[in-house]
Amino acid sequence: MSAEAMAAVRERVRRLGSLPYDDIVDAALYGSGGFFAEGGGAGRRADFLTSPEVGPLFGAVVSRFLDEEWDRLGQPDFFVVVEAGAGRGALAAGVLAAKPRCLKALRYVCVERSQVLRARIESSLAVEPAINIFGTLDHDDDDFIAPSVAASLAGSRGPIVTVLDDLPALSFSGVLFANELLDNLSFRLMERVGPRHEGSDLRPRWAEVRVGLSDDDQTLVEVLVEASGDLEAEAERLAPDAPVGARLPLQAGAQSWLHRALSILDRGRLVVIDYADHSSSLVTRPWRDWVRTYRAQERGGHPLDDLGEQDITCEVAVDQLARVRAPDLDISQSEWLTRHGVGVLVAEARDTWHERAAIGDLRAMVARSRIGEADALTDPKGLGAFRVLEWVIDG
Ligand SMILES: C[S@@+](CC[C@H](N)C(=O)[O-])C[C@H]1O[C@@H](n2cnc3c(N)ncnc32)[C@H](O)[C@@H]1O
Repeated sequence: MSAEAMAAVRERVRRLGSLPYDDIVDAALYGSGGFFAEGGGAGRRADFLTSPEVGPLFGAVVSRFLDEEWDRLGQPDFFVVVEAGAGRGALAAGVLAAKPRCLKALRYVCVERSQVLRARIESSLAVEPAINIFGTLDHDDDDFIAPSVAASLAGSRGPIVTVLDDLPALSFSGVLFANELLDNLSFRLMERVGPRHEGSDLRPRWAEVRVGLSDDDQTLVEVLVEASGDLEAEAERLAPDAPVGARLPLQAGAQSWLHRALSILDRGRLVVIDYADHSSSLVTRPWRDWVRTYRAQERGGHPLDDLGEQDITCEVAVDQLARVRAPDLDISQSEWLTRHGVGVLVAEARDTWHERAAIGDLRAMVARSRIGEADALTDPKGLGAFRVLEWVIDG
């Protein structure tokens, strides 16, 4: 983050007093000079590796899943897939390269908040204006895209790919997919503290961890403040047995994203993939295990250090999402990939490798790489342990 952007954050803390964690995390990731605002993110040569960035296999399995969902919906001529938090478009590229059966019906919408990353998607995929998917703009309101011409655009014209900076304003039938998005939404932070020692109430309480300034006004530091009644009640409800010293994230950002996502799906499936846990378990673990920072493929420093220079992520509390609506499915990524045919794709790759290893041509190399990708994507100590949450909307 530039010196001016950092000075602006400090000035806000000076003027407003301590700020909640979500405010600072949002500035660090998406504000001026923020980590994603500057184009940081997933990739082999970037800051961390996500499943779509491991190689094309993940997109190939997702494309099989999309075909299954397209079949379930009756093979509509117009099949919208919205990918939220699309990064630089690796999953979209993988899905398109796998040529799913639904390709002609496919309307693939990459939603990415970072302008720099949206530009990367535009430079690597054949992106068309959103109007080619969603129809005419309502000229009374520039932000609103009317669903009016979906029918006239139906037919075998796909794939059409577009890029948006936020979820579409209209509802649709199809799939909404988010890989490693929710862990990057900002969160508030609570800490269990001892009783007040006033009167006879000896129960531990919750304080809010906020962000203030050091005595010389130069450095962002954590400060514990008395939690508002709402926050305290929410933390107590989620983790009543938390020991003194334990920390708990409150993920209202992820909850409100889920609420919006569910509200725009008329029919179809919402799929969220992320590292996840439950509030009652998070409070038993050191907080820096579940609030992690990354830069250049390494773990970074304290989340308040080097604002904008590192990714800040928080494991997703499934029970907090379930407050919006309980998922219909919650399985490991490894199991989800198996259900959707990773084994078939790997068996094909093994056959190709055995046939062509001696020739050593491109097909042999692609097959060998696919076998390695499968190991990484299903590794029970790594990506394979991620949770896949699904919400089915039958409309
Ligand atoms: C960890 S990256 C994951 C990228 C990609 N899904 C992948 O798996 O490689 C999270 C991405 O979500 C984007 N993002 C964060 N909040 C968003 C929002 N509300 N809407 C759309 N994109 C968002 C970030 O800019 C970042 O590119």
